[in-house]
Amino acid sequence: MALDLNQQARDILNRNDRGGYTVPTARLYPYQWNWDSAFVALGFATFNRDRAWQELELLLQGQWDNGMIPHIIFRRDDPDYFPGPSVWQTSGGAFPSGGISQPPVFASVMLELIESGGAEDLGQAQAMFDQVLKWHRWFHHDRTPNGCPVVCTVHPWETGRDNCPDWELGLDRMDVDEGIEPYTRMDTVHADVSERPSKLQYDKYVTIIKFGRDVGWDQKRLTNEGPFLMADPGIHFILMRADRDLLAIAKMLGRSDAFDELQGFISKSETGTDYLWNPDMNAFCARDVRSGTFSQGFSSASALPFYADAGTPAQRQGTLDNIKRIAAKVDYLIPSWDPDAADFEPQRYWCGPVWPQMNNIISKGLAEQGETDFAEQVRQDLARLIEKSGFFECFNTMTGDGCIGTDFSWTAALWLAWASPNQEN
Ligand code: DGY
Repeated sequence: MALDLNQQARDILNRNDRGGYTVPTARLYPYQWNWDSAFVALGFATFNRDRAWQELELLLQGQWDNGMIPHIIFRRDDPDYFPGPSVWQTSGGAFPSGGISQPPVFASVMLELIESGGAEDLGQAQAMFDQVLKWHRWFHHDRTPNGCPVVCTVHPWETGRDNCPDWELGLDRMDVDEGIEPYTRMDTVHADVSERPSKLQYDKYVTIIKFGRDVGWDQKRLTNEGPFLMADPGIHFILMRADRDLLAIAKMLGRSDAFDELQGFISKSETGTDYLWNPDMNAFCARDVRSGTFSQGFSSASALPFYADAGTPAQRQGTLDNIKRIAAKVDYLIPSWDPDAADFEPQRYWCGPVWPQMNNIISKGLAEQGETDFAEQVRQDLARLIEKSGFFECFNTMTGDGCIGTDFSWTAALWLAWASPNQEN
């Protein structure tokens, strides 16, 4: 069974290959997505290491001159997706792309490939090092609003956790711009409407894009003056971990010129971590920067302090207590949103379902920090979900049914690299 699934997973990656880069799934997401590709590289590495590095290389080809690596690279126009290149109208890099970024797991994936590989892998990382450092610099400079202690986000899509109720605080504060062009959503053509974000959420997503276009995608203006500005424990902890991993790579490469800068980024994040601590929830939560208000629910990103080796012992204990509370309510960990919250929906995109890539990094962090029982439960729950339902984009946390995209690349990749009980590599 596991062997059969391993073969199915390899077939999915090969089928979703568009010539050196991989689409998350056919039709619904027909381009190269940023953090999807990084996880996909881990999957390819189990049977084709050159192809794994190529995935990362092609992602770097989309980097903007200012250092940002966008969330989507549009190598060609595809009518199956909205909003495509004609809506974003960016010109920051070699290809048309989204005008925002995505959680920077890239450096951590590079380190994982180096650790499981050899001299050749280190050579590949050496060739990419400066571009990745430039991207991290962009986050710390262009996405840190004036006077704010942490890196923030300007669009729910930048967090990768698109319609998580976390973002309602920021979205509630903004109006839909009456100047947005009429548009036709394509996601609800390919997926069930009950599993996708609402029309009002989409109107606001498009409003933020319009603001970005109106300021010529000046990223500092988008951060400081844009309609949406929130701090995200997901981006915060993922970047903190990625800075640590990039520093580890710098040490392997003898890049002493980068040590102080990376250590500075890490120290800034360590100091800023308390900004995300919500005492009412006893957890790290998303926060609206302009009002200072916290989101009142435990999301899967709230479970990431271990991954970043962050937080005080009391904060880590609070995080574990929340995971225990939630484990008693759901059949599969880790739901993307709090099952005790009124807006929990176990089948709707980021309002409840379990996401493979979140389970992967949460479990990794828990294992590293000695929380081995929970770490193993989180890994096994993803394995059970895939064995029950197949390679879906995400899964209903109560029933285990697959949701939204089928034959999904990061699910296949993480099965091969991590969740499968039968590792063949
Ligand atoms: C989408 O279109 O749903 C994407 O998640 C945006 O990145």
